Amino acid sequence: MKQLVIFTGAGISAESGIKTFRDSDGLWENYNIADVATPEAWERDADLVLDFYNQRRKQVFEASPNDGHLALVELEKKFKVHVITQNIDDLHERAGSKNVLHLHGEITKARSESDHRLVYPLAHWEMKPGMKNEEGHRLRPHIVWFGEAVPAMDTAIFLTMKADIFIVIGSSLEVYPAASLINYAPEHSQQYLIDPHYKPAFEKERLTVITDKAGKAVPQLVHQLLQNHV
Ligand code: APR
Repeated sequence: MKQLVIFTGAGISAESGIKTFRDSDGLWENYNIADVATPEAWERDADLVLDFYNQRRKQVFEASPNDGHLALVELEKKFKVHVITQNIDDLHERAGSKNVLHLHGEITKARSESDHRLVYPLAHWEMKPGMKNEEGHRLRPHIVWFGEAVPAMDTAIFLTMKADIFIVIGSSLEVYPAASLINYAPEHSQQYLIDPHYKPAFEKERLTVITDKAGKAVPQLVHQLLQNHV
């Protein structure tokens, strides 16, 4: 089976009503990133950080996968598919994608401050201040903040290096190290990028750019790939 790697960013969830960061002028729902999405912010004002992610989590719980998320699942009929996402929502999973790797964490989960391996699903959108696990460790949102290492990056690179087809959907490719992933796609691979506002920041010979919204372009590309590959 051919290996297909899909690399998604905020753009794929835009049509589900979840705002992208860069479409809102560098402010995320009127918050400055440094105040809410860094380890320093957590040390300084954990309640503000919790409040920010509570609002984002509520939005995610109320959202549903759109035609873009749903179409990707069809690819699993003919390809070995891995979704690598920068998104912290769970819309790929709820659409039915089997292999989803989150580079920047998952908002539907909390984790121990003292042991990053202890991760807990959240049944409710609200994380209350002072939440602790059974060992008495404070819980934090299971998010990779700006300035933190991206532990899933090695696995993401490994998967991308084996891709026969590599598809980028809805990412500005501005946030590193995640944005560097496309450089690991093999020379022989077919490469596609879906983004209605694509800015040609870099030239790639093999890259086919589709300047449409994910909800329309993904189902079309999926249809094409399923027809062209037996
Ligand atoms: N379909 C496809 N793409 C879209 C759509 C849509 N309907 N709407 C917007 N886009 C595109 C925008 O044109 C933009 O290029 O999605 C891209 C979103 O870019 P960013 O907001 O920069 O999102 P992303 O690339 O995922 O950001 C990376 O930065 O905000 C932090 O940690 C956060 O994981 C995130 C990282």
